[in-house]
Order: sequence, then structure tokens, then C-alpha cells
Amino acid sequence: MDKDLERKLFTEADLDEITTRLAKEIENDYKDAKNVLLLGILKGSVVFMSDLMKKIKKPLQIDFMKVSSYGASTTSSGKINIILDLHRSDLSELDIIVVEDIIDSGRTLSYLCEYLKLNGAKSVKTVTLLDKPARREVNFTPDYCGAEIPDEFIVGYGLDYAERYRTLPYIAVLKKEIYEK
Ligand code: IMP
Ligand code: MG
Repeated sequence: MDKDLERKLFTEADLDEITTRLAKEIENDYKDAKNVLLLGILKGSVVFMSDLMKKIKKPLQIDFMKVSSYGASTTSSGKINIILDLHRSDLSELDIIVVEDIIDSGRTLSYLCEYLKLNGAKSVKTVTLLDKPARREVNFTPDYCGAEIPDEFIVGYGLDYAERYRTLPYIAVLKKEIYEK
């Protein structure tokens, strides 16, 4: 393991188990839905979303949005900017499932869900791989959640610190000295 990492939190096998369970829950709830859109939030959700979508046994569309709330640090600025928007004329026909890597303050997802509903989406739900409920600043509960974790900064499987570690196949806790120096 990389010297910057404190310990593994989820192995590849754990992540396979989590994505399999979430895919089954979604498949079950969306059995009769005709136009389901998995909407990944770049870039953190890319690895999770690609594993998840292969396991949901029904036709799906995919799309992406990019928002910013974090700089290169480990704390959110609180303000959400849309950097890449969703340009679609069929929003009123789409059952959207927003796919996020991790929920921290809750600001990103609560803002995005409001935004998509205001723009006329037929329905909006959220799936997150991980959740840090202890860090919540706004009231927000995901519809599907892979696992709750304590308040530690983690990387891997799409998640980064200053654009590093995204390609690790597992999830690990980043040593405090890396981001506190
Ligand atoms: P929120 O808007 O405060 O809920 O922030 C969610 C976003 O913060 C996620 O999409 C991640 O990009 C980032 N984030 C929060 N916690 C972590 C972490 O432990 N590791 C990496 N990124 C994180
Ligand atoms: Mg993110």
C-alpha cells in the first residue's frame, strides 16, 4: 500500500459486494420505469458508476454533470458551482438517479436534486457509495447508500485528494499528515 495511506477501509471484494447489493435494490425499485438515467457527478463517481451500471440488469441511459465545491483541500467551501451542465430536452420523461461517490456536508446533492426537480425531471433519487453522516451541514438523506463511514478523509476507487489516488482499486484512509501539512 502507498506510504501516504493509513489503512484500507474497503477491499476490492467489499466494493464488489456493495455495488452488487445497490444494483439489486435499484433494479427492484425501477422494474417498471422506462427511461432511467444514471447521472454521474464527475469525477469522483466514475469508477463506482461504471461498476454499478454493469450490474443493473435493465436498459439505462447515462450522463454526467460536474460541480465544484472543494478546492484542493479537504473541506468544502459550501458554495456549489455547476461546471458541466445537463443539456437535455426530455427531462420530464426521465427518472434520474444521481450517482455520487461520497456525501459529506450534503450540500452538493441537496443542491443538485433541487436543481434537477426545478428543471422538470420526472423523478430524482440519489445513490452514494459512501456517506459521512457526522459531517452533515444540511438535512439530506440518500435513497441508496453503500456504507456509512466515520469522519476521516478517504481516497481510491475514484475519490481523490488534490487529484491523486483516484485509480486505486480499493478505498483507504489518507494519513492526516498528508493533508494537514
Ligand atoms: P458535500 O457537498 O460536502 O456533501 O461534498 C461531497 C463531495 O466532497 C464529494 O463528491 C467528494 O468529491 C468530496 N469529498 C467529501 N469527503 C471526501 C473524502 O473523504 N475523500 C474524497 N473526497 C471527499
Ligand atoms: Mg465528488
